[in-house]
Amino acid sequence: MSVLTATGVEVTYPGAGRPVRAVAGVDLAVEPGEVLGLVGESGCGKSSLARALVGLVAPSAGTVTFGGEPVQPLRRRARPVAQRRLQMVFQDPYSSLNARRRVGDQIADALRLAGTGGRRRDPGAAGALLERVGLDPAMQTRYPHEFSGGQRQRVAIARALAADPTVVVADEPISALDASAQAQVANLLVGLARDEGVAVVFISHDLAIVRQVADRTAVMYLGTVVEVGPTETLWTDPQHPYTRALIGAVPVPDGSGRLPEDLPGDVPDPAAPPSGCRFHPRCPVATAECPTWEPVLRVQGPGHAAACLLAPDRAGAVP
Ligand SMILES: Nc1ncnc2c1ncn2[C@@H]1O[C@H](COP(=O)(O)OP(=O)(O)OP(=O)(O)O)[C@@H](O)[C@H]1O
Ligand SMILES: [Mg+2]
Repeated sequence: MSVLTATGVEVTYPGAGRPVRAVAGVDLAVEPGEVLGLVGESGCGKSSLARALVGLVAPSAGTVTFGGEPVQPLRRRARPVAQRRLQMVFQDPYSSLNARRRVGDQIADALRLAGTGGRRRDPGAAGALLERVGLDPAMQTRYPHEFSGGQRQRVAIARALAADPTVVVADEPISALDASAQAQVANLLVGLARDEGVAVVFISHDLAIVRQVADRTAVMYLGTVVEVGPTETLWTDPQHPYTRALIGAVPVPDGSGRLPEDLPGDVPDPAAPPSGCRFHPRCPVATAECPTWEPVLRVQGPGHAAACLLAPDRAGAVP
């Protein structure tokens, strides 16, 4: 059974003029112990979807379930105990950690809140969590500013692990780090999935990293999932023109760069999305029908679906 599901999820912000539908109807299921990559250009709604998945914002439509129960968008302390096993890691650990408290105390707080730390404080518990993320337990007496960026992100992950999570939603967890810390933190998150069965939603605009870490990948465009499937299938046999364009945009290893050949223009304003297929104004293969129909996800192969009028419609279940 999927551990986390989104069904018809929408997230709408009141805009200056028209409301912004940042997430415009997403169906997505996260399986236990998998790494699910979530990719797409800036502004496509990745963070908005992430916040809805963990209950930081209430969806304006649709439902999110965690462990079969609806996720309740409540303040952290008011959440049902079971929901604490759904955790989020942010791009900037500075903003999620308290700068004025020792990290050991912050992890101990998280243990208490999760009910996993017992009534009395176990001085070893916070250190053990630091050790689990590859840090020296003695570092628990330090303050966040005394860590490097990569170490600070490890602290944030240790604090998330205090709740014994079954799902960690990580929103650009390595984007602010230098290259070596990026690889280490990505490996740490993948290790949680491989070795401990924690499902990880790994959000990134960096497709090359996602290809390395994700078992499955979902591609978002302007608030919708346009393609989802096993990561290697998406890379070797992408069915949506947007996925093909994104893959074409991944920098080549020699650093000479590579621009998306077929992807003109910028992401349209989500407050006024194009009619029919939202991608049609930028699509190199759009037909006269594309502005008139909004495509839904259709099966392309095992566990693989794409929302394009030109993609096949094969038998099977949409993942
Ligand atoms: N609090 C908010 N109020 C109003 N509009 C918002 C708010 N947060 C996000 N948006 C808008 O919603 C859309 C989706 O934003 P979101 O941050 O979810 O995208 P993203 O894919 O995470 O982008 P990035 O890759 O830059 O992090 C954007 O148009 C953004 O301007
Ligand atoms: Mg974001």
